[in-house]
Order: sequence, then C-alpha cells, then structure tokens
Amino acid sequence: MNFASDNAGPAHPAILAAMTAANAGHSPGYGAEAAMERVQAMVREIFEAPEAAVRLVATGTAANSLLLATLARPWETIFCARTAHVQEDECNAPEFFTGGAKLTLVEAPDGRMDPDALRAAIAAEEGRGVHGPKRGPVTLTETSEKGTTHGPARIAELAAIARAHGLPVHMDGARLSNALAHCGARPAGISWQAGVDALSLGATKNGCVGLEIVVLFDPAQAQEFDYRRKRAGHLFSKHRYLSAQAEAWLSDGLWLDLAARANAAAALLAQGLGARGVELLYPVEANLMFFRAPRGLHRRLHEGGAQYYLWGGDLEGGNPDDLLTGRLVCDWSADAAAVERFLALI
Ligand SMILES: Cc1ncc(COP(=O)(O)O)c(C=O)c1O
Repeated sequence: MNFASDNAGPAHPAILAAMTAANAGHSPGYGAEAAMERVQAMVREIFEAPEAAVRLVATGTAANSLLLATLARPWETIFCARTAHVQEDECNAPEFFTGGAKLTLVEAPDGRMDPDALRAAIAAEEGRGVHGPKRGPVTLTETSEKGTTHGPARIAELAAIARAHGLPVHMDGARLSNALAHCGARPAGISWQAGVDALSLGATKNGCVGLEIVVLFDPAQAQEFDYRRKRAGHLFSKHRYLSAQAEAWLSDGLWLDLAARANAAAALLAQGLGARGVELLYPVEANLMFFRAPRGLHRRLHEGGAQYYLWGGDLEGGNPDDLLTGRLVCDWSADAAAVERFLALI
C-alpha cells in the first residue's frame, strides 16, 4: 500500500534488462552511442516532429531548469502556476540555472493555470521599463501537480496567450504519459501542435531508473541547451545507460502501457474512496489524487501499513477530528490488491 509517490515504485524489468544489455563491452560516451540516434529517431516519430532535437538527463529538475534557462534570459520572469513543481519543489533551480530569472506565480485553482489569470499576470509585467522584469516563458505542467490534466485544447488556449506576447512555452511533462493515457491525444497534438516549444518528458516516475527526455521542437536551441547541460554537470559520460532506458521505455508503447496501469489503479482507488464518502479535492484524471479526511482516519491508515504524504498537518498530536489532506499516487506497479486493502482499512 505504497501510495507515497510514483518515484517510490520500482523500475520496470524491461528497463533493467535494457540497461544490462547496454552494459556489454565498450561504447562511446556523452550521447555519441548508436542507441542515442535511435532514441532521437523514435522521439521524432512519436511526436511527428522530424526536426526536433532530443537530449537526455537523469532528473526532472535538470530537464526543467536547463530548458527554462535555454528559453529565458536572466532579466526575464517565467510564468508558472502557483502550485508548479518549479516553484514549490526545485529549490530555486530555475532561478539558479537561468542566472537570475524570477518566477511569476499564476493562480491555478485545480493545478491548471486559469487563462484569465495568465493574461492578467503577463499584462502586469513590463510596466516598469528597465527597472522591472521582462516577460519570459510560460511553463505548464501536464499532468498538473493536483492530478488534473489540461488536454490539448486547454494547452493550446494557454499557449496562444503566451504566443500573443511572443513568449515561448515550456511543458513540465513529468507525468505527460499519464495525461496521454487518460485523454488519448496524439503526443504531437498535446505538445508542439498546441504551441509547446520545449518539453521535459518524464520517464523516471513511470518505470525508469533515472531518465527525463528533453525535446526541443526548435532544434536551433539545442546548442545552447548542450552547453548548459555540460556546464551544469548533467551530461553523462556513460550516457548509454540513459539511452538504453529511453529506447526500452518508448519501444512498443511501453511508456503508455505503464501510464495506463498507474491510471487504472488510481481510478479504482478514487472510485472506492468516492463510494465510501471520502472527499476528493480535484477530479482524478491521471495517477494521483488528494483527499480530505479526519486525522484519526489518516492515523488508522498509516497504522494499517498505508504509506502516503499528508499535505500540511501532522499525524501526531492534535484533534483526531481535524480534517487533513492526504496525497495518494499510484505508480505503474500498483495492484488492485493493494488498493482493495487500503479501501478495506477505510
Ligand atoms: C510535476 C513534477 N515535475 C518535475 C519533477 C521532477 O523532479 P525530480 O528532479 O525529483 O526528478 C517532479 C517530481 O516529483 C514532478 O512531480
């Protein structure tokens, strides 16, 4: 009953097997291995983007902040949801890697940026001449941090607002595969065709050991990204273990199968919680959810062996009737039996 995070889950055996196979003999490093060419070709085909530049890093924070640094100048501000991972959980890495760009927070009541709020936030910047920040990229998270998905239409709506001001769009796709498994859109339709310029495509949370695929739909930006990646210490010398993961993950639709499994477990969990009268805070559209319940129930679940994080508030002390929010995340390996055990505790 581990619903703490999708990165608490195991790597898929096919990923480990691919890394073991890549371990045979010697290989050029730094992305010069033959597998990297195959990975780039696969990503280009899957995203219907024959010119896209594809790079690999091992963490989502590296993918996000190196891409944002490529898209933003130090005097610019990056528009992100108030709840965005780049704002809450990256220890100011975007600000650090951009060399001083700041983040402007946009209201996103259910994890999805409100279009009017984005319009207003963009309009409010750049009124102070040389003294204030200049407008910079907009970054969107799909699946959002609250477990909701935008889908191609909402992404296109938000990207059009950015585009109207000449601003580039980045997508934090740490869980893009879960969003695609949910809405069935084509990868191209939810990314560059909707106006996304650069994508962090997360794989670690979805069956890999450590892999995020960076996609620059404008290949002219690849060289700057390359210098930034090297300078940041994120160009792996034994790069073959990254490309091996990517090749296995993208082969035969494994990435979408694993995401669909995680989503299915989450749907079962959400259905069971709803049936038991437990309050879910947002629509459950991918593989994570937030629920509100009395502290006493959270205690009982933890004592019964469930693992998940509370979003503010402590299990210990306090009134057992106080309502606290918990976050439940299903990874690809979450099984129905674990979900049933959890529901039985409720
Ligand atoms: C929305 C989102 N973006 C990016 C990341 C990547 O973070 P990390 O640097 O831990 O791989 C995470 C991981 O929690 C995430 O939830």
